[in-house]
Amino acid sequence: MLSARKPDPTIIIIFGAGGDLCWRKLLPAIYNLYLDNWLPDNFAVVGLDIKEMSDDQFRQRINDGINKFSRRGKANENEWQKFASSLSYQKADFTDKNNYQQLAQRLLSIESPWGKKSNRVFYLAIPPLFIQDITENLSSSNIAQDDLLDRIVIEKPFGHDLESARKLNKILGNIFNECQIYRIDHYLGKETVQNMMAFRFANALFEPIWNRNFIDHVQITVSEEVGVEHRGSYYDHAGALRDMIQNHILQLLCLTAMEPPVSFSADEVRNKKVDVLRAIRKYKPEDVHNVSVRGQYGGGWLEGNKIVGYKEEPGVNPQSNIETFAAIKFFIDNWRWQDVPFYIRTGKRLPVKTSVITIQFRPVPHSAFPNESIENWQPNRLIINIQPEMGIRLRFQAKQPGLKMLLTPVDMIFNYENAYKTEPPEAYETLLLDVMLGDATLFMRSDQVEAAWELLMPIIETWESATPTDFPNYSGGTWGPEAAEALIARDGKNWLILPAINHSNSK
Ligand code: BG6
Repeated sequence: MLSARKPDPTIIIIFGAGGDLCWRKLLPAIYNLYLDNWLPDNFAVVGLDIKEMSDDQFRQRINDGINKFSRRGKANENEWQKFASSLSYQKADFTDKNNYQQLAQRLLSIESPWGKKSNRVFYLAIPPLFIQDITENLSSSNIAQDDLLDRIVIEKPFGHDLESARKLNKILGNIFNECQIYRIDHYLGKETVQNMMAFRFANALFEPIWNRNFIDHVQITVSEEVGVEHRGSYYDHAGALRDMIQNHILQLLCLTAMEPPVSFSADEVRNKKVDVLRAIRKYKPEDVHNVSVRGQYGGGWLEGNKIVGYKEEPGVNPQSNIETFAAIKFFIDNWRWQDVPFYIRTGKRLPVKTSVITIQFRPVPHSAFPNESIENWQPNRLIINIQPEMGIRLRFQAKQPGLKMLLTPVDMIFNYENAYKTEPPEAYETLLLDVMLGDATLFMRSDQVEAAWELLMPIIETWESATPTDFPNYSGGTWGPEAAEALIARDGKNWLILPAINHSNSK
């Protein structure tokens, strides 16, 4: 996150190299790092998977992924040829020890002309059930032996609940030191998410008002237009709580609520985030229905197209009780945030794709204006747009030009597109570079993951113990079940649905 130097010689070994993640995200990101001159001169990718593929077939597949998904579009032929020579493939059964001997030989032969052992980044783009076999085989084949140079990257989901996350941490901890383990949450690699640290801790202006004395409440909405797409069989065992809240949304909440770090060392930043997770009030099972809402989409209409309900999606159990929408009210029991509600919501098949954090400030203590002046009055709001708009706006009241004193809300806008001419890197570019550099700031530590699960377990257990009787309870293309409106309306507030930056017609 902080370093401007290139990594030392590195081999990235991707388990699951025949899969979607490698094709759509990892290799397009690595290719862009190459184009931006971030890769060391001595660099290689070794892809491993069960499928039979030659090096050339692997390269062809990666080229196709880059052409389709790279932020720069189609690869330039010359650049591609130079890059492609660093890619190779090995067919491997992850449970078979012999394959690891072969891998060991391959890594040594790549490193031998470099004259020294390189960083080895083992990237596990595979279902969690293979993690134990892979880590144990890496260890018993002496492939991952170096505490400083060898690193392992784990994708989400990290566990299915608190117990399985602890078990996974133990398995990894038996072989790797914590500083070698990089648990990915791709939200942390997003430019706008990283900017939250800059915004909060590089400006003296906001910190004095960033607390319960000035802030009325916080809202975090992460909505998606898409349904479960081709991931029904995974999603039907996860649901919105595990898929989005346990990781991405709690990370956004931590960045909003954390105390200023003393330094930007990985552990210092992560300590401050864990403090937030530990301070979030844990609900008793009997409280869960008062503070949370779950929903599942039925069929509906989205942008003029008819869409099927969740239960009709491929790979989904037609009787599924899994939630595709979740809303929760949290409280953070500490001096800064006592009694300030944090409302979060996320869902699939909602009207728009947006991730936005809204900080709503308290009203003025006394309004001296006559009623007719304040018909359009709105509270001060700071709106942090994570995506697809990228920017921040501060909403305040202004006098509308004219002979009368009429107040209307206006926005001060910081918009990435206008402020910077450069295209921001993809989250995976930032995260992969950080792994190569050995900077774990943007990755989740074991105690963070466990604290997030611990917090959600009462909700998970209560939901699992009571079958929902009303699913599907929202139509695709709407803002979720009515109960989600009631959750916030009970406190005299409403969810804020914001228009794209540059328009300000929100109420
Ligand atoms: C993933 C979830 O972690 O994040 C998906 O598994 C979700 O279900 C995706 O669609 C959203 O990511 P982004 O970057 O598009 O907001």
